Amino acid sequence: MAQITVGKLKIGQREEDALLEVIKSGQLSEGRKTFEFEKAWAAYIGTGFAIAFNSGTSGLIAGLTALKIKYNIKDGSKVVTSPLTFIATANAIMHCGLQPVFVDVDRQKLVITPENIEAAVKKDKGIALILPVHLMGYAVDMLAISKIAKKYGLRVMEDASQAHGTLYNNKKLGSFSDLAIFSFYIAHNIQAGEMGAANTDNIELFKLLKKIKTHGRMCDCNVCSRHLGKCHLLKKYTNKEIDLDPRFYHDIIGFNFKTMEFQSALGLLQLSKAQEIFEKRNFNVCYLNRGMKDLEGVLQLPEYSEQVSYLAYPLVIKDSRIISRFRLRRELEHRGIETRPLFGCIPTQQPAYRFLEKKYKNKLPVAEYLGLNGFYIGCHQYLEKADLDKIISVFHEVLK
Ligand SMILES: Cc1ncc(COP(=O)(O)O)c(C=O)c1O
Repeated sequence: MAQITVGKLKIGQREEDALLEVIKSGQLSEGRKTFEFEKAWAAYIGTGFAIAFNSGTSGLIAGLTALKIKYNIKDGSKVVTSPLTFIATANAIMHCGLQPVFVDVDRQKLVITPENIEAAVKKDKGIALILPVHLMGYAVDMLAISKIAKKYGLRVMEDASQAHGTLYNNKKLGSFSDLAIFSFYIAHNIQAGEMGAANTDNIELFKLLKKIKTHGRMCDCNVCSRHLGKCHLLKKYTNKEIDLDPRFYHDIIGFNFKTMEFQSALGLLQLSKAQEIFEKRNFNVCYLNRGMKDLEGVLQLPEYSEQVSYLAYPLVIKDSRIISRFRLRRELEHRGIETRPLFGCIPTQQPAYRFLEKKYKNKLPVAEYLGLNGFYIGCHQYLEKADLDKIISVFHEVLK
Protein backbone atom coordinates (compact mmCIF):
# COMPACT_ATOMS: atom_id res chain seq x y z
CA MET A 1 0.00 0.00 0.00
CA ALA A 2 1.52 3.31 -1.10
CA GLN A 3 1.66 5.77 1.78
CA ILE A 4 0.17 9.24 1.49
CA THR A 5 3.17 11.14 2.76
CA VAL A 6 3.46 14.56 4.41
CA GLY A 7 5.81 15.64 1.63
CA LYS A 8 7.48 14.33 -1.48
CA LEU A 9 10.14 15.36 -3.98
CA LYS A 10 9.88 13.97 -7.49
CA ILE A 11 13.11 13.98 -9.44
CA GLY A 12 12.04 14.33 -13.07
CA GLN A 13 14.08 14.79 -16.25
CA ARG A 14 14.68 18.50 -15.62
CA GLU A 15 15.99 17.78 -12.12
CA GLU A 16 18.22 14.95 -13.40
CA ASP A 17 19.63 17.22 -16.10
CA ALA A 18 20.26 20.05 -13.64
CA LEU A 19 22.06 17.76 -11.18
CA LEU A 20 24.13 16.24 -13.96
CA GLU A 21 25.06 19.71 -15.16
CA VAL A 22 26.46 20.45 -11.68
CA ILE A 23 28.50 17.24 -11.66
CA LYS A 24 29.86 17.90 -15.13
CA SER A 25 30.76 21.49 -14.25
CA GLY A 26 33.20 20.25 -11.61
CA GLN A 27 31.98 23.01 -9.29
CA LEU A 28 30.29 21.22 -6.40
CA SER A 29 30.82 23.71 -3.58
CA GLU A 30 29.04 27.04 -3.52
CA GLY A 31 29.36 28.90 -6.83
CA ARG A 32 27.40 30.43 -9.69
CA LYS A 33 24.23 28.30 -9.27
CA THR A 34 23.98 29.43 -5.66
CA PHE A 35 24.37 33.10 -6.58
CA GLU A 36 21.71 32.61 -9.24
CA PHE A 37 19.41 31.05 -6.64
CA GLU A 38 20.07 33.87 -4.17
CA LYS A 39 19.10 36.48 -6.75
CA ALA A 40 15.97 34.59 -7.77
CA TRP A 41 14.94 33.99 -4.14
CA ALA A 42 15.42 37.65 -3.21
CA ALA A 43 13.26 38.65 -6.20
CA TYR A 44 10.58 36.07 -5.30
CA ILE A 45 10.26 37.24 -1.68
CA GLY A 46 10.70 40.89 -2.62
CA THR A 47 13.78 41.82 -0.63
CA GLY A 48 16.98 43.49 -1.77
CA PHE A 49 19.16 40.52 -0.86
CA ALA A 50 19.09 36.79 -0.12
CA ILE A 51 21.92 34.60 1.15
CA ALA A 52 21.85 30.81 0.86
CA PHE A 53 22.76 28.56 3.81
CA ASN A 54 23.27 24.82 4.08
CA SER A 55 20.11 24.61 6.25
CA GLY A 56 17.40 26.77 7.76
CA THR A 57 18.96 26.13 11.18
CA SER A 58 22.29 27.55 9.97
CA GLY A 59 20.35 30.54 8.65
CA LEU A 60 18.73 31.08 12.07
CA ILE A 61 22.09 30.91 13.87
CA ALA A 62 23.76 33.20 11.33
CA GLY A 63 20.81 35.62 11.44
CA LEU A 64 20.86 35.94 15.21
CA THR A 65 24.66 36.28 15.16
CA ALA A 66 24.43 39.07 12.58
CA LEU A 67 21.77 40.94 14.58
CA LYS A 68 23.87 40.60 17.76
CA ILE A 69 26.89 42.11 16.02
CA LYS A 70 25.11 44.89 14.16
CA TYR A 71 22.88 46.03 17.00
CA ASN A 72 25.27 45.26 19.84
CA ILE A 73 22.88 42.78 21.47
CA LYS A 74 24.61 41.29 24.49
CA ASP A 75 24.90 37.61 25.45
CA GLY A 76 22.02 36.62 27.71
CA SER A 77 19.57 39.03 26.05
CA LYS A 78 16.08 37.69 25.59
CA VAL A 79 14.16 36.75 22.45
CA VAL A 80 10.35 36.52 22.37
CA THR A 81 9.33 33.55 20.28
CA SER A 82 6.81 30.78 19.76
CA PRO A 83 6.68 27.70 21.98
CA LEU A 84 4.92 25.84 19.14
CA THR A 85 7.50 25.42 16.42
CA PHE A 86 10.08 22.98 15.14
CA ILE A 87 12.78 22.80 17.80
CA ALA A 88 15.38 24.51 15.53
CA THR A 89 13.99 27.97 16.35
CA ALA A 90 14.61 27.61 20.08
CA ASN A 91 17.89 25.71 19.59
CA ALA A 92 19.30 28.54 17.46
CA ILE A 93 18.45 31.07 20.20
CA MET A 94 20.24 28.93 22.80
CA HIS A 95 23.29 28.29 20.58
CA CYS A 96 23.63 32.06 20.08
CA GLY A 97 23.89 32.70 23.83
CA LEU A 98 20.42 34.25 24.00
CA GLN A 99 17.40 33.27 26.10
CA PRO A 100 14.01 32.35 24.67
CA VAL A 101 10.90 33.94 26.16
CA PHE A 102 7.90 31.88 25.05
CA VAL A 103 4.47 33.46 24.64
CA ASP A 104 1.24 31.70 23.83
CA VAL A 105 -0.21 31.18 20.36
CA ASP A 106 -3.57 31.63 18.65
CA ARG A 107 -5.52 28.39 18.66
CA GLN A 108 -6.66 28.57 15.04
CA LYS A 109 -3.66 30.26 13.36
CA LEU A 110 -1.08 28.43 15.55
CA VAL A 111 1.19 31.51 15.77
CA ILE A 112 2.09 34.00 18.52
CA THR A 113 -0.19 37.00 18.96
CA PRO A 114 0.76 40.71 19.25
CA GLU A 115 -1.13 40.96 22.59
CA ASN A 116 0.93 38.16 24.14
CA ILE A 117 4.17 39.59 22.71
CA GLU A 118 3.50 43.07 24.05
CA ALA A 119 2.52 41.75 27.49
CA ALA A 120 5.88 39.92 27.69
CA VAL A 121 7.88 42.91 26.42
CA LYS A 122 6.23 45.24 28.94
CA LYS A 123 7.13 42.92 31.79
CA ASP A 124 10.71 42.09 30.84
CA LYS A 125 13.28 44.80 30.15
CA GLY A 126 15.86 42.22 28.98
CA ILE A 127 14.06 41.51 25.72
CA ALA A 128 16.03 42.63 22.65
CA LEU A 129 14.44 40.71 19.82
CA ILE A 130 11.17 39.25 18.52
CA LEU A 131 11.39 36.02 16.52
CA PRO A 132 7.92 35.20 15.17
CA VAL A 133 7.38 31.85 13.42
CA HIS A 134 4.90 31.64 10.55
CA LEU A 135 3.80 28.08 11.31
CA MET A 136 2.25 25.93 8.57
CA GLY A 137 2.25 29.02 6.33
CA TYR A 138 0.03 31.15 8.61
CA ALA A 139 1.20 34.74 9.00
CA VAL A 140 2.02 36.24 12.36
CA ASP A 141 0.55 39.77 12.44
CA MET A 142 3.72 41.49 11.24
CA LEU A 143 2.31 45.03 11.07
CA ALA A 144 1.38 44.85 14.77
CA ILE A 145 4.78 43.34 15.59
CA SER A 146 6.59 46.12 13.73
CA LYS A 147 4.68 48.66 15.83
CA ILE A 148 5.63 46.89 19.07
CA ALA A 149 9.26 46.64 17.94
CA LYS A 150 9.35 50.36 17.16
CA LYS A 151 7.67 51.31 20.43
CA TYR A 152 10.11 49.29 22.57
CA GLY A 153 13.24 49.55 20.38
CA LEU A 154 13.46 45.86 19.47
CA ARG A 155 14.79 44.04 16.41
CA VAL A 156 12.65 41.50 14.52
CA MET A 157 13.69 38.35 12.67
CA GLU A 158 11.02 36.18 10.99
CA ASP A 159 11.28 32.41 10.97
CA ALA A 160 9.53 31.93 7.64
CA SER A 161 10.85 28.38 7.18
CA GLN A 162 7.30 27.09 6.73
CA ALA A 163 5.85 30.02 4.76
CA HIS A 164 7.21 30.16 1.22
CA GLY A 165 5.09 32.68 -0.61
CA THR A 166 2.33 33.43 1.92
CA LEU A 167 0.92 36.88 1.19
CA TYR A 168 0.32 39.32 4.02
CA ASN A 169 -0.72 42.89 3.42
CA ASN A 170 0.04 42.40 -0.31
CA LYS A 171 3.65 41.37 0.27
CA LYS A 172 5.32 38.03 0.86
CA LEU A 173 6.24 36.96 4.37
CA GLY A 174 9.96 37.30 4.90
CA SER A 175 9.93 40.95 3.84
CA PHE A 176 8.54 42.47 7.04
CA SER A 177 11.51 42.48 9.42
CA ASP A 178 15.25 43.11 9.78
CA LEU A 179 15.80 39.72 8.25
CA ALA A 180 13.92 36.50 7.63
CA ILE A 181 14.94 32.86 7.50
CA PHE A 182 13.63 30.13 5.20
CA SER A 183 14.21 26.38 5.16
CA PHE A 184 14.11 24.33 1.98
CA TYR A 185 14.17 21.05 3.84
CA ILE A 186 12.49 18.17 2.09
CA ALA A 187 8.65 18.38 2.20
CA HIS A 188 8.66 22.17 2.39
CA ASN A 189 6.86 24.00 -0.43
CA ILE A 190 10.16 24.88 -2.13
CA GLN A 191 12.51 22.04 -1.31
CA ALA A 192 16.13 21.24 -2.03
CA GLY A 193 16.94 18.38 0.34
CA GLU A 194 18.84 20.44 2.88
CA MET A 195 19.17 24.19 2.37
CA GLY A 196 18.10 27.52 3.85
CA ALA A 197 18.19 31.21 3.06
CA ALA A 198 18.13 34.58 4.78
CA ASN A 199 16.40 37.59 3.22
CA THR A 200 17.01 41.21 4.09
CA ASP A 201 16.86 44.72 2.68
CA ASN A 202 19.75 45.85 4.83
CA ILE A 203 23.08 45.82 2.99
CA GLU A 204 25.13 45.76 6.20
CA LEU A 205 23.25 42.69 7.46
CA PHE A 206 23.68 41.11 4.04
CA LYS A 207 27.45 41.62 4.15
CA LEU A 208 27.63 40.37 7.73
CA LEU A 209 25.65 37.23 6.89
CA LYS A 210 27.95 36.47 3.97
CA LYS A 211 30.94 36.73 6.26
CA ILE A 212 29.38 34.72 9.09
CA LYS A 213 28.64 31.79 6.79
CA THR A 214 32.28 31.65 5.62
CA HIS A 215 34.08 31.73 8.98
CA GLY A 216 34.10 35.51 8.99
CA ARG A 217 36.53 35.82 6.12
CA MET A 218 37.15 39.24 4.67
CA CYS A 219 36.22 38.36 1.05
CA ASP A 220 33.05 39.99 -0.16
CA CYS A 221 32.99 39.10 -3.87
CA ASN A 222 30.76 36.34 -5.25
CA VAL A 223 33.38 35.16 -7.70
CA CYS A 224 37.05 35.41 -6.81
CA SER A 225 39.02 37.69 -9.13
CA ARG A 226 42.29 37.35 -7.25
CA HIS A 227 43.97 35.38 -10.06
CA LEU A 228 43.05 38.20 -12.47
CA GLY A 229 44.77 40.71 -10.22
CA LYS A 230 41.43 42.40 -9.52
CA CYS A 231 40.97 41.65 -5.79
CA HIS A 232 40.13 45.03 -4.24
CA LEU A 233 41.04 43.81 -0.73
CA LEU A 234 44.48 42.65 -1.88
CA LYS A 235 45.03 46.05 -3.45
CA LYS A 236 43.85 47.78 -0.29
CA TYR A 237 45.79 45.82 2.32
CA THR A 238 48.87 44.24 0.79
CA ASN A 239 52.10 46.07 1.15
CA LYS A 240 55.71 45.00 1.46
CA GLU A 241 55.32 44.15 5.16
CA ILE A 242 52.04 42.25 5.14
CA ASP A 243 51.26 39.39 2.77
CA LEU A 244 47.52 39.20 3.22
CA ASP A 245 45.18 36.74 1.52
CA PRO A 246 41.55 37.83 2.12
CA ARG A 247 40.30 34.26 1.75
CA PHE A 248 42.24 33.31 4.88
CA TYR A 249 42.00 36.54 6.81
CA HIS A 250 39.07 36.68 9.24
CA ASP A 251 37.67 39.59 11.21
CA ILE A 252 34.60 37.84 12.69
CA ILE A 253 34.31 34.43 14.41
CA GLY A 254 31.96 32.69 12.00
CA PHE A 255 30.86 29.25 10.81
CA ASN A 256 30.96 27.13 7.69
CA PHE A 257 27.33 27.38 6.59
CA LYS A 258 27.96 27.33 2.84
CA THR A 259 25.71 25.27 0.63
CA MET A 260 26.41 23.09 -2.40
CA GLU A 261 25.54 23.67 -6.03
CA PHE A 262 23.23 20.63 -6.13
CA GLN A 263 20.75 22.18 -3.73
CA SER A 264 20.79 25.49 -5.55
CA ALA A 265 20.16 23.76 -8.88
CA LEU A 266 17.13 21.96 -7.37
CA GLY A 267 15.97 25.12 -5.60
CA LEU A 268 16.02 27.07 -8.86
CA LEU A 269 13.87 24.48 -10.59
CA GLN A 270 11.43 24.40 -7.69
CA LEU A 271 11.23 28.16 -7.69
CA SER A 272 10.24 28.13 -11.36
CA LYS A 273 7.18 26.09 -10.25
CA ALA A 274 6.40 28.14 -7.12
CA GLN A 275 3.02 29.46 -8.26
CA GLU A 276 1.91 26.03 -9.45
CA ILE A 277 2.93 24.48 -6.09
CA PHE A 278 1.16 27.26 -4.14
CA GLU A 279 -2.10 26.86 -6.12
CA LYS A 280 -2.15 23.06 -5.98
CA ARG A 281 -1.62 23.03 -2.21
CA ASN A 282 -4.39 25.61 -1.77
CA PHE A 283 -6.71 23.55 -3.94
CA ASN A 284 -5.94 20.48 -1.82
CA VAL A 285 -6.62 22.30 1.47
CA CYS A 286 -9.97 23.53 0.10
CA TYR A 287 -10.88 20.07 -1.16
CA LEU A 288 -10.01 18.39 2.14
CA ASN A 289 -11.86 21.05 4.15
CA ARG A 290 -14.99 20.47 2.06
CA GLY A 291 -14.75 16.71 2.46
CA MET A 292 -14.09 16.86 6.19
CA LYS A 293 -16.62 19.60 7.06
CA ASP A 294 -18.98 17.20 8.84
CA LEU A 295 -16.12 16.13 11.15
CA GLU A 296 -15.77 19.60 12.63
CA GLY A 297 -17.42 18.43 15.84
CA VAL A 298 -14.32 16.31 16.51
CA LEU A 299 -11.57 18.06 14.57
CA GLN A 300 -10.46 21.65 14.18
CA LEU A 301 -9.86 22.00 10.44
CA PRO A 302 -7.29 24.46 9.06
CA GLU A 303 -8.60 27.94 8.38
CA TYR A 304 -8.55 28.49 4.63
CA SER A 305 -7.23 31.61 2.96
CA GLU A 306 -6.02 31.92 -0.62
CA GLN A 307 -3.20 34.15 0.72
CA VAL A 308 -1.66 31.29 2.73
CA SER A 309 1.00 29.01 1.27
CA TYR A 310 0.30 25.76 3.17
CA LEU A 311 3.20 23.66 4.43
CA ALA A 312 0.78 20.88 5.33
CA TYR A 313 -2.79 20.21 6.49
CA PRO A 314 -2.88 20.81 10.29
CA LEU A 315 -5.66 19.29 12.40
CA VAL A 316 -6.47 19.53 16.10
CA ILE A 317 -8.56 17.06 18.11
CA LYS A 318 -11.21 19.12 19.86
CA ASP A 319 -11.85 16.69 22.70
CA SER A 320 -9.33 13.97 23.41
CA ARG A 321 -12.02 11.99 25.27
CA ILE A 322 -13.68 11.31 21.91
CA ILE A 323 -10.42 10.04 20.42
CA SER A 324 -6.84 10.46 21.56
CA ARG A 325 -4.18 11.72 19.18
CA PHE A 326 -2.22 8.55 19.80
CA ARG A 327 -5.13 6.38 18.63
CA LEU A 328 -6.12 8.59 15.70
CA ARG A 329 -2.57 8.84 14.37
CA ARG A 330 -2.08 5.11 14.73
CA GLU A 331 -5.31 4.35 12.84
CA LEU A 332 -4.38 6.79 10.06
CA GLU A 333 -0.83 5.49 9.71
CA HIS A 334 -2.16 1.92 9.71
CA ARG A 335 -4.37 2.88 6.75
CA GLY A 336 -1.50 4.49 4.81
CA ILE A 337 -1.70 8.16 5.81
CA GLU A 338 1.51 9.59 7.24
CA THR A 339 1.02 11.98 10.17
CA ARG A 340 3.34 14.19 12.23
CA PRO A 341 2.67 15.79 15.63
CA LEU A 342 2.41 19.57 15.83
CA PHE A 343 5.91 19.73 17.36
CA GLY A 344 4.95 20.06 21.06
CA CYS A 345 5.10 23.04 23.39
CA ILE A 346 8.88 23.46 23.68
CA PRO A 347 9.40 24.49 27.34
CA THR A 348 6.92 22.00 28.82
CA GLN A 349 6.79 19.10 26.36
CA GLN A 350 10.32 18.84 24.94
CA PRO A 351 12.78 16.98 27.20
CA ALA A 352 15.75 19.13 26.06
CA TYR A 353 14.02 22.18 27.57
CA ARG A 354 13.04 20.49 30.85
CA PHE A 355 15.02 23.17 32.69
CA LEU A 356 12.23 25.63 31.75
CA GLU A 357 9.30 23.37 32.62
CA LYS A 358 8.54 24.78 36.06
CA LYS A 359 8.67 28.37 34.83
CA TYR A 360 6.17 27.74 32.02
CA LYS A 361 3.87 25.04 33.45
CA ASN A 362 0.24 26.11 32.78
CA LYS A 363 1.40 29.48 31.37
CA LEU A 364 0.99 28.48 27.73
CA PRO A 365 -2.38 26.68 27.72
CA VAL A 366 -3.05 26.98 23.98
CA ALA A 367 0.41 25.85 22.88
CA GLU A 368 0.25 23.00 25.41
CA TYR A 369 -3.15 21.93 24.08
CA LEU A 370 -2.01 22.10 20.45
CA GLY A 371 1.27 20.39 21.30
CA LEU A 372 -0.65 17.40 22.71
CA ASN A 373 -3.65 17.32 20.37
CA GLY A 374 -2.44 18.84 17.09
CA PHE A 375 -0.97 16.94 14.16
CA TYR A 376 -0.63 17.32 10.42
CA ILE A 377 -0.89 15.37 7.22
CA GLY A 378 0.26 16.23 3.70
CA CYS A 379 -1.45 18.57 1.24
CA HIS A 380 1.46 18.60 -1.20
CA GLN A 381 1.39 19.20 -4.93
CA TYR A 382 1.86 15.54 -5.90
CA LEU A 383 -1.37 14.38 -4.23
CA GLU A 384 -3.96 13.24 -6.75
CA LYS A 385 -7.75 13.43 -6.43
CA ALA A 386 -7.75 9.71 -5.48
CA ASP A 387 -5.33 10.46 -2.59
CA LEU A 388 -7.52 13.31 -1.32
CA ASP A 389 -10.64 11.13 -1.55
CA LYS A 390 -8.84 8.36 0.30
CA ILE A 391 -7.83 10.76 3.10
CA ILE A 392 -11.43 11.92 3.46
CA SER A 393 -12.86 8.42 3.52
CA VAL A 394 -10.23 7.10 5.98
CA PHE A 395 -10.97 9.94 8.42
CA HIS A 396 -14.70 9.15 8.19
CA GLU A 397 -14.06 5.45 8.68
CA VAL A 398 -11.92 6.04 11.79
CA LEU A 399 -14.12 8.73 13.32
CA LYS A 400 -17.58 7.27 12.45
C1 LIG B 1 9.83 26.61 11.74
C2 LIG B 1 11.15 26.01 11.35
N1 LIG B 1 12.28 26.65 11.71
C3 LIG B 1 13.48 26.16 11.38
C4 LIG B 1 13.62 24.98 10.68
C5 LIG B 1 14.98 24.45 10.40
O1 LIG B 1 15.25 24.26 9.07
P1 LIG B 1 16.27 23.14 8.58
O2 LIG B 1 15.63 21.81 8.81
O3 LIG B 1 16.45 23.46 7.13
O4 LIG B 1 17.52 23.32 9.35
C6 LIG B 1 12.47 24.28 10.26
C7 LIG B 1 12.57 23.04 9.50
O5 LIG B 1 11.63 22.40 9.17
C8 LIG B 1 11.20 24.81 10.63
O6 LIG B 1 10.08 24.17 10.30
